[in-house]
Amino acid sequence: MARKKIIAGNWKMNMTPSEAVELINTLKPLVATEKADVVFCVPAIDIIPAMEAAKGSNIQIGAENMYFEEKGAYTGEISPAMLTDVGVKYVIIGHSERREYFAETDETVNKKVLKAFEHGITPIVCCGETLTQREQGVTIDFIRQQIKIAFLNVTADQAKTAVIAYEPIWAIGTGKTATSDQAQEVCSAIRACIREIYDEATAEAIRIQYGGSVNASTAAELFAKPDIDGGLVGGAALKPDFGKIVNY
Ligand code: PGA
Repeated sequence: MARKKIIAGNWKMNMTPSEAVELINTLKPLVATEKADVVFCVPAIDIIPAMEAAKGSNIQIGAENMYFEEKGAYTGEISPAMLTDVGVKYVIIGHSERREYFAETDETVNKKVLKAFEHGITPIVCCGETLTQREQGVTIDFIRQQIKIAFLNVTADQAKTAVIAYEPIWAIGTGKTATSDQAQEVCSAIRACIREIYDEATAEAIRIQYGGSVNASTAAELFAKPDIDGGLVGGAALKPDFGKIVNY
């Protein structure tokens, strides 16, 4: 079974609601394809206008974060029900920026992943090593630990539908894309780890993206690798270039 590619934009803290509508109207015709799933993960306040603007297109709107409790006294957080109520089907979990600036850990990532599945939202689970870890030769060990904890108590049926984004931290927003061989090596190790935790069928079904300075000129080579099922794209997702990445 061939895995369908999934190309997701991560807008981060960019685009006001009115800018979001404008950008979606610009990108709509450029990302129209049946060959890949196209997801725009946008700031919470942009979700509703983005959904409205994307209506009738192949663009799916996702969130960049979600809390792991149902509701209550968690000022500033967004609950899973708030996302599903407006039709959100994807949520980025554990992006390295959230780990670095907002104290997210493998344990909170695991709680969020479980909660997302409970609500029928597909998590895009982020992992990735620092430059120091790469230089120390512990990249694969570190990523395996991130994946094993993120997927604790996740069933095989749930894991089959998950998306993992491998994003080396040194490649994010730096213009320094990992080589396609570096990216393939880690994505293949992630698939092997999933095979170990679950089974062959789960490993074959789960989709693994590469992220970190993906652009129109690097996308084709990266996405041609056997274990890379698409990309999580930051900076280039805010430009018409995103159309070229989707139609790599
Ligand atoms: P970038 O960001 O494409 O701007 O490097 C990717 C990400 O952080 O998801």
